[in-house]
Amino acid sequence: MSQKKIVALGGDGVGPEVMDTACWILEKSGFDLAIGKPLCGADALKTEGNAFPEEAQKLCEESDAILFGAAEGPSIVILVYLRWGLDNYINLRPIKYYAGARSPLKNPEGIDFCIIRENSEGMYPGREGDVSWLAQKLADYRDPFGRTLEDYGPGKFALRLITQRGTERIAKYAVDLARERKLQGFPGKITCITKSNVLFQSCGLFRETIEAEMKKNIDLTYAHYYVDDAARRIVRFPQTFDVLVTSNMFGDILADEAAEVVGGLGIAPSACLGGRKPYFEPVHGSAPDIAGKGIVNPTAMILSAKLMLEHFKMHAEASALEKAVAEVYRQGIDLTPDQGGKSSTKEFAAAILKNIR
Ligand code: NAI
Ligand code: MG
Repeated sequence: MSQKKIVALGGDGVGPEVMDTACWILEKSGFDLAIGKPLCGADALKTEGNAFPEEAQKLCEESDAILFGAAEGPSIVILVYLRWGLDNYINLRPIKYYAGARSPLKNPEGIDFCIIRENSEGMYPGREGDVSWLAQKLADYRDPFGRTLEDYGPGKFALRLITQRGTERIAKYAVDLARERKLQGFPGKITCITKSNVLFQSCGLFRETIEAEMKKNIDLTYAHYYVDDAARRIVRFPQTFDVLVTSNMFGDILADEAAEVVGGLGIAPSACLGGRKPYFEPVHGSAPDIAGKGIVNPTAMILSAKLMLEHFKMHAEASALEKAVAEVYRQGIDLTPDQGGKSSTKEFAAAILKNIR
C-alpha cells in the first residue's frame, strides 16, 4: 500500500490544540502517513489576510484525505470548501460508549450507533432574506392558514431545501452502512428521523425516499420517528439504535445530544464522505471557553483520525488507536477535566501513546 498523504487543518480555538495532539500521536506511533500542516484559520488570517490561503487549498487538492479541527468566524470558508466545495454530502457521526467515559446515564454500556446526517442541503448553508422580498416574489402564495407572506409584516425567512437526488444518495449510503455493520453483528436496522407530521412536503419527501430505498432492501429492518420523539429516545433507549439517517439540521442537533449520552462533545468524532475527497473532524466546535488552557479533550479528534485510518483500510492502525483510547478511559487515571479527570491534553495524549501497540 502506498503511503497516504494527508493534510491537517487545525482551524481556530481548540482546533489547533486537538489537531497537534492527534498528529503527535499519529507520528509518534510510526503510522505510515505523510502529514502536511499548512497555515490556516485565525493565524493565517493575521499573517496572510486569508483564513484559507491558496497554498493550503492546493495541498488539500493533492492529498488523500483531510483532518480538520474546528472553525469560527472568518474560518468558516474552510468548512465551506470541505463540505460544499468537495461535495462531502455524508456526515457520519458514530456514537459509541467507552467504559469510564463520563456519561450522565446510569447504564450506558453497549451504546454503539451511527448518525448519518445529510451534509449538503436542508437548512444549510443558510439561505435567508427579508420576508418583504419573498412576499413580492411569492405574491400568490398562501400558507396553510390562507395568509399571504405580506400579512406577517417585516421579518426574515430561511429556506429549507430537500431534493430527490440529495435524499436518494444519502438513503443509499445508509443502506450500505447498515449492511456493512450487520456483517459485524449489528442488527441491520435503519431509523429515519423527520418532522413529516408538520413539514409534509420537505420531510415527507425525505421520509418517502428513505422508505422507497428500504423496500429494495428487505434484509434490513426499519423504523421512523419524529425528531422530537427521537431526541427523547436517544436519551431513554440509546442501545436500541443502529443506523440513524436524517436531514442536515436535525443531524447537527441530535449528534450533540447523542455525544453527551456517551460522555460528551470531547469524545464524538465524525467523517465527511461521498465527495471528491473525504475529511474527518470532531463533532464539537472551537470551544472558545477552554481554548488555550491546555485542557481540551482531544479524543474526538483522535477518533476522527481513526475513522480516516479505517477509510484508508489501515485497519491494524485504526484498531490500535481505538484500543488505546478504550484502555485509557477504562483505567480512568489520565482523563481531562470534561471527563472528571485532572489531566492536561498533553498528559492524556501521552497516556494514549503509551497504550498503542
Ligand atoms: P462547541 O462544540 O465549540 O462547545 C460547546 C461546549 O462543549 C463548550 O462548553 C466547550 O468547552 C465544550 N467542548 C467542546 N469540545 C470539547 C472538547 N474537545 N473537550 C472539552 N470540552 C469541549 O460549540 P459552541 O460553543 O456552540 O460553538 C463555538 C464555536 O464553534 C462557534 O463559533 C461555532 O460556530 C463553532 N462551531 C464549529 C464547528 C465546526 O467547525 N465544525 C462545529 C460546531 C461549532
Ligand atoms: Mg454541530
